[in-house]
Amino acid sequence: MFLVGENGRLVGHWFEDVADHLGGAYLRYSFTKGTDQEVDFLVDCLGLEPGVRVLDVGCGPGRHAHALGRRGFEVVGVDISERFIALARQNAPDGAAVSFERADARSLEYDSEFDAVISLCQGAFGLSGGAGVASLDPDRAVLDGIARALRPGGRLALSAFSAYFQVRFLGEADTFDAGRGVNHEHTAVRNEEGAEVPADLWTTCFTPRELRLLAESAGLHPDHVWSVTPGDYAVRPPDIEHPEFLLVATRAHSGGAGRTPSGWPRPSA
Ligand SMILES: C[S@@+](CC[C@H](N)C(=O)[O-])C[C@H]1O[C@@H](n2cnc3c(N)ncnc32)[C@H](O)[C@@H]1O
Repeated sequence: MFLVGENGRLVGHWFEDVADHLGGAYLRYSFTKGTDQEVDFLVDCLGLEPGVRVLDVGCGPGRHAHALGRRGFEVVGVDISERFIALARQNAPDGAAVSFERADARSLEYDSEFDAVISLCQGAFGLSGGAGVASLDPDRAVLDGIARALRPGGRLALSAFSAYFQVRFLGEADTFDAGRGVNHEHTAVRNEEGAEVPADLWTTCFTPRELRLLAESAGLHPDHVWSVTPGDYAVRPPDIEHPEFLLVATRAHSGGAGRTPSGWPRPSA
């Protein structure tokens, strides 16, 4: 898998074309409407305190980064889409310590710089399993880069699409590759002017067990996996009724297990 071409430019990702067409119309999708609930939950669950630095991987047009910035946190958002990065910069709240960079999450170069990382609504994780890709390779690379970006003891919240839910509610436009856990949806996306173009979306879907194993192999302690719906993040044991799993994990201190903030359930794994 080549991430950087000979000319030093990032090799294109299918989501970039989707984002180029969507632009600001991305924020019309219903799954983007619960940002404040999600951020309230994450601030609490990750134990974020004033002064912490947060990395938002696959930040899109920056809705979570903006909301965290409004609450006084310092946030760096990265995304592969130039269009989304431009929108995120343009709409950043005045005076907030938020910045945005175009980067490929499969080759993150941060080293122990962040107290917390978020990667939400398939923010890069689960979006690189297109045709011909061994499904877990890019997601491993994303998780490894996230783990490196966290300081020891730093915490991660990452949402991933549920394989159970995807198969249970397979639509007519979906083709699910059971061997790789990748759903291919042939759909259409509409821009701000209402112009519609066909689009192919590839979403790698996960089970809670896979998420825990992947986290562990990246050097993260998987504290929890909860079942969530965008806009309804909650402490909810994994089930087959909700579209996403939220993995909450901690980068291990060398030689020890990660910490769990007081007041939250102890890790079940
Ligand atoms: C469904 S959107 C989620 C955006 C945002 N996290 C949210 O919750 O609204 C997925 C985002 O992941 C980005 N993305 C996909 N693959 C990526 C990669 N390899 N590196 C960085 N960003 C990526 C896309 O450009 C898109 O902005």
